[in-house]
Amino acid sequence: MSLPLPDKVNVLLVGSGGREHALAWRISQSKHFGTLWVDRYANAGLLEFGKPCPEEFSLKRRYYLDRWMAKEKIDFIVIGPEGPLAEGLVDQFATPTRPVFGPTKAAARLEWDKAYAKSIMRQTSVPTAEGRVCTTLSAALAYVTERNEPCVVKATGLCAGKGVTVCGDTKEAIAAINRCMASREFGDAGASVVIEERLEGQEVSVFALVDGRTITLLDTVQDHKQVGEGDTGPNTGGMGAYCPTPLLDQAALASIAHDIFVPTIDGLRRQGVDYRGVLFAGIMLTHAGPKVLEFNCRFGDPETQVLMARFNGDLLKTLWQTATGSLDEAEFSFEPRCACCVVVCAPGYPGPVPKGSTVSGLAPLRDCDGSAARPYFFQAGTRATKDSRPVTSGGRVVGATALGEGLADAALAATEAAKRIVFDGAFFRRDIGHRVLHSQSTGR
Ligand code: AMP
Ligand code: GLY
Repeated sequence: MSLPLPDKVNVLLVGSGGREHALAWRISQSKHFGTLWVDRYANAGLLEFGKPCPEEFSLKRRYYLDRWMAKEKIDFIVIGPEGPLAEGLVDQFATPTRPVFGPTKAAARLEWDKAYAKSIMRQTSVPTAEGRVCTTLSAALAYVTERNEPCVVKATGLCAGKGVTVCGDTKEAIAAINRCMASREFGDAGASVVIEERLEGQEVSVFALVDGRTITLLDTVQDHKQVGEGDTGPNTGGMGAYCPTPLLDQAALASIAHDIFVPTIDGLRRQGVDYRGVLFAGIMLTHAGPKVLEFNCRFGDPETQVLMARFNGDLLKTLWQTATGSLDEAEFSFEPRCACCVVVCAPGYPGPVPKGSTVSGLAPLRDCDGSAARPYFFQAGTRATKDSRPVTSGGRVVGATALGEGLADAALAATEAAKRIVFDGAFFRRDIGHRVLHSQSTGR
């Protein structure tokens, strides 16, 4: 479906976090921007760019949503998070004249079923950790006992980033398997598990826009998943990120395109699945080369914040071209400066957090340029009170983001920006980019 882009596009943006705040900002700068409707549960920052859709974006509300979209003349739906993609809302809401940005349910299976992702990788010889899918508790326990080495246990379904346990020994692996399969901590998502070798190396996030035929890689990002400085403590959704990362040069990126993205998209096509949207590969750079840790069928958070901080082009047009099969005509680039995002979190994150604390130090994105003096504050877990005051409403509250000539400058400016965000118990990592900065300063 190649569909001409209307002069003015009315957009519905689904999702309520920092990723969506960054997307809304760039979408609203498009020459083709008409109106933006944000998620019913939008954070306080998103309200700078649009009014909330009166309906929840779900199948239950389909009748009312269809009526509302007709009334507001919605031309384009952009879906941020994996939940609606896994539910198949692209299949349900796309029409011949109203495209939706995001993969269909069958294509999004790469994220919502880790066993399926493994089988596609195996069939297409995409490099990934070696392992096995276990569908019964006894088979899983027998397998880790027999392996008797560090491994990783993953619930196969969606668990909001919590279903993966990196295990140092068999005892930890047995506990992780029991949490998934015996106590069913993740419900049906943990009914089967993937158990795989524990890889060592640095992790990078690689994103590609895919329109079914054309695959365009974006600049590479490094996220910091662990909550504590020095990469310690439990995994989170991401505590900070920077872009581009010097860990991959153009040649390495070309190999990743050739060895990972092309065969994966081809493998899906051979099964009759047309992938459109963004494909996000979490990749470990091991001594034996890059290996896929996971596929996601959406933009990353906070990776999107640093990508959008450097994006040069018309995002709305690019997303439309991706959704309608004309990505080969897209023109965009990333500015040469480096971007760094430091996520300011509520106390207790990644566990349960208190809500309702007033957030100060924010500025509208319109007034910012990413410099140390005027950094971008991408809002995530915030909510506007009746008197329009931003208060905390989630674990990751604000992504303080700045540009710099190099990573050191960007990281320093973003860390200073994070200090300006004040609410009860706010905390953040002060070492985003530390592994690369350390190797740059020691020459190793
Ligand atoms: P995933 O959701 O599969 O990306 O896993 C979440 C995090 O767990 C990753 O970002 C890695 O830090 C870690 N992880 C996943 N798989 C492996 C693996 N095979 N070896 C080492 N760490 C892993
Ligand atoms: N930051 C990692 C993710 O979005 O899954």
